[in-house]
Amino acid sequence: MEHNMNSIPELTAQLTYGTWRFQKGWKPLEVVDAEGCYFIDAAGNKYLDFCGQLMCMQLGHKNQAVIRAIQQQAEKLSYIGPGFATEVRVELSKRLQEVLPKGLEKYFFTCSGTEANEAAFKIARMYTGKSKIISRYRSYHGSTTGSISATGDPRRWAVENGGKIPNVVFAPEADCYRCPIKHSYPDCGVACVEYIDHMMEHESNVAAIIVEPVVGTNGVLIPPKEYMPRLREICDKHGALLIADEVMSGWGRTGKWFAMDNWNVIPDILTTAKGITSAYAPLGLCATNKKIADYFEDHYFAHGHTYEAHPLTMAAAIAAIDEYKRMNLIERSAEMGKYMESKLQPLKEKHPSVGEIRGLGLFWAVDLTKNRKTREPFNVYKDKFENKPMTVDKIAAEMLKKGVLIMSWFTHFVIALPLIITKKQIDHALAALDDCLRIADELVTT
Ligand SMILES: Cc1ncc(COP(=O)(O)O)c(C=O)c1O
Repeated sequence: MEHNMNSIPELTAQLTYGTWRFQKGWKPLEVVDAEGCYFIDAAGNKYLDFCGQLMCMQLGHKNQAVIRAIQQQAEKLSYIGPGFATEVRVELSKRLQEVLPKGLEKYFFTCSGTEANEAAFKIARMYTGKSKIISRYRSYHGSTTGSISATGDPRRWAVENGGKIPNVVFAPEADCYRCPIKHSYPDCGVACVEYIDHMMEHESNVAAIIVEPVVGTNGVLIPPKEYMPRLREICDKHGALLIADEVMSGWGRTGKWFAMDNWNVIPDILTTAKGITSAYAPLGLCATNKKIADYFEDHYFAHGHTYEAHPLTMAAAIAAIDEYKRMNLIERSAEMGKYMESKLQPLKEKHPSVGEIRGLGLFWAVDLTKNRKTREPFNVYKDKFENKPMTVDKIAAEMLKKGVLIMSWFTHFVIALPLIITKKQIDHALAALDDCLRIADELVTT
């Protein structure tokens, strides 16, 4: 589908990512309708959504079961304060116990992922009586004060001059393509996780480490298989809690209910949002194990929200989980992941600008490089702040003209497909990517 750009409000490179842009000249695409994996603009152009909006729409648009559940709940009980028990909350808690990693059985409900992480930090600090939070550089944990302070990527820079919470320290990420400590897997013995042991030894007073089990926006970074089991051991050795931020990696995204399930590692706290309702209602979750929950039996947790455990969001989550099960979407994600891999990897052979293609289930990154030997990216973080044209954004804007929405981020594309996507739709979007990668190929230096 090739669109006549004159019929669409002016597109800019920044349009490809919805929350972090220069305001001057911003003219967003007006969306008027959506169905399944597509959305439609005011001029009638149809776009295939290759990133589930903000990597959150596992069920695609207009899922009738979720819509009906919200409608019915609205008629029955649209709001009640979080201090009351409700049937819908009990029902959701039962569903969560079935799908979350074993033992995560006490739930604090929020309206977003960032709030779930704020709760996690407060719980970890109160429970352990310690104050430090370790996070990793290639990470995003949300935009409120605690979560942005624990965010490793440059979205944190804006709060460095005064707005940051104290006692957050950063560890290197597990990135086997551009290893921050210049090692090479497997000879490295997974030095990046051993360094966290070293950090905990020397920092002392560490309450928790927060990790995205598969790093999302910052590159779909999949740790080596030894990483999470070893991190679990390190946390236990130092009496620090392991917080898995599964806001993006949960809900079938990696071919399992949660990314941690790929290594059978159970965190002490799991936070999530996005796919919990397939984004039909704003719900976040901070789930803890019983030991932590028991502590709060007689310790006051001075924390809460007006919209905490909002009945409409609970109803949406129940329906979304039931839909994931009814349509076998978690298994489907794993199966379709194999198809994605078979179609994506040939792009690396064909395009010199493709450095690495990595993924799990229906969660993939296409990482670009100027030079395959040095793995130098086309752009660095600073370029974005200086409003310089970003190669990945140019490609994403070109793909949008062809009717495909893809998420671009500094060095790579994040592909987070609705779990209902078909092979035909994948082929269509990858044909557009194949075509548009020539923009980067022309800039390759060797
Ligand atoms: C891993 C991760 N954690 C936390 C958040 C913040 O979630 P929210 O935008 O719902 O506050 C995000 C959002 O993209 C995320 O990807």
